[in-house]
Amino acid sequence: GLGDVYKRQQQALAVVVLAAGQGTRMRSQTAKVLHELSGIPLLGHVLATASALQPEHLAVVLRHHRDAVAGVVTDYVPDAILVDQDDIPGTGRALELALAALPSTFAGDVVVMSGDVPLLDSDTIQAVVDHHRSQGSALTLMSTIPEDPTGYGRVIRNDRGDVTGVVEESDANAAEKQITEINSGVYVMNRAHAHAAVAGLTTTNSQGEKYLTDIARALSSAGHRVSGVLVEDSWLLEGINDRVQLSEAQARLTRMTIRGWQLLGVTVADPASTMIDLSVELAPDVTLLPGVQLKGDTRIDSHATIGPDSTLVDTIVESHATVVRTHSLGAHICEHASVGPFSYLRPGTVVGVEGKVGAFVEVKNSTLARGAKVPHLSYIGDADIGEGTNIGAGAITANYDGETKHRTTIGSQVRTGSHTVFVAPVELGDGSYTAAGAVVRRRVEPGALAMSVAPQRNLEGWVEHNREGSPAAIAAKKAGKSKK
Ligand code: UD1
Ligand code: CA
Repeated sequence: GLGDVYKRQQQALAVVVLAAGQGTRMRSQTAKVLHELSGIPLLGHVLATASALQPEHLAVVLRHHRDAVAGVVTDYVPDAILVDQDDIPGTGRALELALAALPSTFAGDVVVMSGDVPLLDSDTIQAVVDHHRSQGSALTLMSTIPEDPTGYGRVIRNDRGDVTGVVEESDANAAEKQITEINSGVYVMNRAHAHAAVAGLTTTNSQGEKYLTDIARALSSAGHRVSGVLVEDSWLLEGINDRVQLSEAQARLTRMTIRGWQLLGVTVADPASTMIDLSVELAPDVTLLPGVQLKGDTRIDSHATIGPDSTLVDTIVESHATVVRTHSLGAHICEHASVGPFSYLRPGTVVGVEGKVGAFVEVKNSTLARGAKVPHLSYIGDADIGEGTNIGAGAITANYDGETKHRTTIGSQVRTGSHTVFVAPVELGDGSYTAAGAVVRRRVEPGALAMSVAPQRNLEGWVEHNREGSPAAIAAKKAGKSKK
């Protein structure tokens, strides 16, 4: 009946994310909330947490770097309500506009989050929502006691423990500055009460902004209950304002991510030098040696060993493969393959089962079939290399004629001599060979040996005649005598 509808509306949740601020302290051309932690923008972390609360409505307030920020919002939450903040500054103004933008029929609670508080999780927020409801509060703020409260708003409580106000650092008197409990900038509020309270906000404070925090005093004075939930782990509520805080949050998130993988059976030899994006997937019995960075859509299957000192971006490594001192972007490394040390794999590289890419080898947009090997000092671009083929040291695919790229197709069980150049487009048949230093410009039939270097000619006595008395000439003379 109607009573149920009313009750359901009361239980409904909307989330407002404040992301209109300038982020001056980052000193960046990029919006603060778009700086990344573990491969995800700060705002992406907040939106993921917001979505986990399954709100009926999600509104994000924007202003600085408006279009870039809006793009990220719609990536993560396509149906988010975008609210543009106007010239009136402050978190209070941001909330006022967001509340006005929520559908008028919405009568539930509103969770307000900051776009720059990325580590807070939805379980903690849900517990605060439950507390807010059980207390019948008009406003509940999340607070904490950080190591250093400087710069934060301070929470003022009465002797019953209810919150009666929040005072910003720049407006606080000496006694208020002694308060160690700070306001985190995350709130739960009843929509109707908050709506009434923001209408009364003014900019008469040291910063000339509408402070969201002023609704605490307004609601308390009007006889509503304002609660504060003290969160013990203050790192959960840490805001990112500058790059020092950004790196500290990254270090914490990395530790938590690695710990999670370790408990799932991944060996991480040196967590302090290992970075793993949140998008990465690892199987049990993967081993990560020191100095490994795994980014983007990278996936590592069981019994693969990565490192030391390797960066893998959007790379798939199948089981039992080893990847040593390698930089890999968009490559696929199949089972039992070996890559490195000092290899550079670029997009479109497939290293086949039991294949090998060795020292000082760059591979791009090329497929190595099962057991194909490029062991030393080579550039392989736009090539297909057949099963069991071995490419000799120092091979180069000349894939670019200055205007267009062309493919090199090499059959199975081919053996190429050291320092072969493949002038693409060119094809080598199955079981063919090339001689050392060959420049292969024409098709090589199966089983043929391609040679392009002129026969060797030795000019006897040339050094003695042309470099008389030189160390080489003396050495040659000596060798000549001892021979006799
Ligand atoms: C705010 C709180 C402070 C609290 C601190 C916790 C106020 C007045 N103060 O201060 O009590 O201790 O957070 O981190 O709210 N934003 C807008 N529009 C604006 C200004 C800011 O959307 O006009 C957004 C920012 O993008 C940011 C969030 O609001 O995501 C917080 O703004 P910020 O300027 O960082 O507030 P603080 O000074 O840190
Ligand atoms: Ca802040």
